[in-house]
Amino acid sequence: MTGMPRPFGLLAEVTHQCPLHCVYCSNPVELFERGSELGTDDWLRVIRQSAELGVLQVHFSGGEPLVRGDLETLVAECRGLGLYTNLITSGLGLTESRAASLVEAGLNSAQLSIQGDTAESTNLVAASKRFDKKEAAARTIRDAGLPLNMNVVLHRLNLDRLDAIIDVCVSWGAERLELANTQYYGWALRNRELLLPSRSQLDEAVAVYERRKAELAGRMELLWILPDYYEPYPKPCMGGWAQTALTVAPDGRAYPCPVAEEITTLDFPSVREHDLEWIWAESPAFRAYRGTDWMPDPCRSCSRKELDFGGCRCQAFALTGDAGRTDPVCIHSPDHHLVEDSLARANGSDRAGESTADPQQLVHRRPTVSARR
Ligand code: SF4
Ligand code: FES
Repeated sequence: MTGMPRPFGLLAEVTHQCPLHCVYCSNPVELFERGSELGTDDWLRVIRQSAELGVLQVHFSGGEPLVRGDLETLVAECRGLGLYTNLITSGLGLTESRAASLVEAGLNSAQLSIQGDTAESTNLVAASKRFDKKEAAARTIRDAGLPLNMNVVLHRLNLDRLDAIIDVCVSWGAERLELANTQYYGWALRNRELLLPSRSQLDEAVAVYERRKAELAGRMELLWILPDYYEPYPKPCMGGWAQTALTVAPDGRAYPCPVAEEITTLDFPSVREHDLEWIWAESPAFRAYRGTDWMPDPCRSCSRKELDFGGCRCQAFALTGDAGRTDPVCIHSPDHHLVEDSLARANGSDRAGESTADPQQLVHRRPTVSARR
């Protein structure tokens, strides 16, 4: 693999099963049923092969990874290989005994998501009122001796509550809070009209973020994930296609990012049929947009092409049907009007409270699942 970038992170999506139904879920719109999931031995092989490939960190995700009874076995395998492990969880199902057994197996950290600062806001976005369970999970994580990292996805319906959301995380003892402005693909794209904030809403939220970041310095780290629709240039998504990390989905398909499953023009390889080294280095899907040779204009002749790599392939596909086009977020993209049109609609009625959009029209991630392929 001379000259080939090596991945340092593996996102192990061990299941799509989840007690929540978030309207911006990054899982594909079609979900896998339990019976098509990789078994324990498959995952152990994937973990071993990822370590050989250079991976240093394994993030267990889903769905809700806690629904897998073999999570401790997978975490222990990582520990044996010297890999750092992180659990990305909704907190539902995290009992004290489960947290203890995961720590015993070697779990290094946990990231707990919340949807808002109340049971009502949780119910609106995730169709679950179990906000109390999240508070209990935060306590359980801390009592188990793990650092408490938290995450909240921000959008039109909760941005105005940013101060209160931060207060919740402070009172629960979070050491780090990721404020992730919604990225619009998959379920979030379906709900974009209701989730995309207005410019003035966003400006106020940025002011809150900056004030609280200064105030909490040394106590809790705040991280602001940019709302890319409002940026002139796209994000350097995943550090470039197949450069720094890979995702293995519940059925064993491997992807350069967690959303790439939506790109139906690529044939993604499976760990059931290929080893990870071939998948990473040789598979046509992973090679498709690696580097800069694939780029069309305007990226091909742009001075930023090594900075943002032409933006996000999943977003290009979601908005134009062609993953090889310039990310429409870019002001130079011939498709930029697609982003501008939605921003115009989002700013037509300026404040969330005055929006004509009805939150009852939100499409929640489906509780039912289907088998594919
Ligand atoms: Fe980035 Fe391409 Fe836009 Fe240049 S033209 S800023 S490389 S997306
Ligand atoms: Fe897949 Fe950006 S989310 S490349």
